[in-house]
Amino acid sequence: MNPNRPTIIAGNWKMNGSRAANAALLDGIGQAWSALAHQAPSCQVLVCAPTVYLSQISEHIQSSVQIKSTSIAIHLGAQDVSTQSSGAYTGECAAGMLKEAGCSHVIVGHSERRQYHGETDTTVAAKAKAALAQGLQPIVCVGETLAQRDAGQAITVVSAQLKAVTDLLQTDAARIAVAYEPVWAIGTGRTASPEQAQEIHAALRNALTSARAAGVPILYGGSMNAANAQALLSQPDIDGGLIGGASLKPADFTQIISAAHALRAGPH
Ligand code: PGA
Repeated sequence: MNPNRPTIIAGNWKMNGSRAANAALLDGIGQAWSALAHQAPSCQVLVCAPTVYLSQISEHIQSSVQIKSTSIAIHLGAQDVSTQSSGAYTGECAAGMLKEAGCSHVIVGHSERRQYHGETDTTVAAKAKAALAQGLQPIVCVGETLAQRDAGQAITVVSAQLKAVTDLLQTDAARIAVAYEPVWAIGTGRTASPEQAQEIHAALRNALTSARAAGVPILYGGSMNAANAQALLSQPDIDGGLIGGASLKPADFTQIISAAHALRAGPH
């Protein structure tokens, strides 16, 4: 990571949770953080939850004694957003609605949405634009499949995914965050090595620099956990994590926040 760029530790809860489980998880994060440290984490902490629970989570973050009594600020993100701002789009949720529910961020173009819902680079770019128009920071996900990696196409694939977004956003590209999530590492327990991840992050950084968006944080996602977070986050172009499975366990998620906090606080 680089202290000149923001560090973001984001939990992607995917389609998990219940009102009771959400409250317990959030309180667990607060409690685990106060057991570890008394100062505020020097990174942004975010949970991206199922749409139907966003308002509940926003209210819980503001009212829970377990969270209010600690120094941790937990921000809220959604996992998807409509390209449209309102109208006859059954089942969709607009960026303005997510904002009103308490979100500051939204994941766009997660590989599970590209794979199961046919989202194209063009759709993902339009979603990022719709998010920014309402003041939400989109976390734009890019990543190659195993077949693409084996064919030596990883950098070509992620560069094209990112280019669709930066071309549409132009100067607003500086306001996004990016998550590099190799599809073969998501939910598989098979993490990219720090060197493999850094190679792609460096290529993405070059592309962002050419798009005059050099300060955009690039998160790594794909089986990041308490044991491997420190090594991944130590890489010069890895500015945080988008964490699925491990974000559902308060102790593990908090360990990852702590690793980011320690690295940011330095000295190395
Ligand atoms: P994982 O998921 O940490 O469970 O691999 C990451 C993601 O899909 O965002």
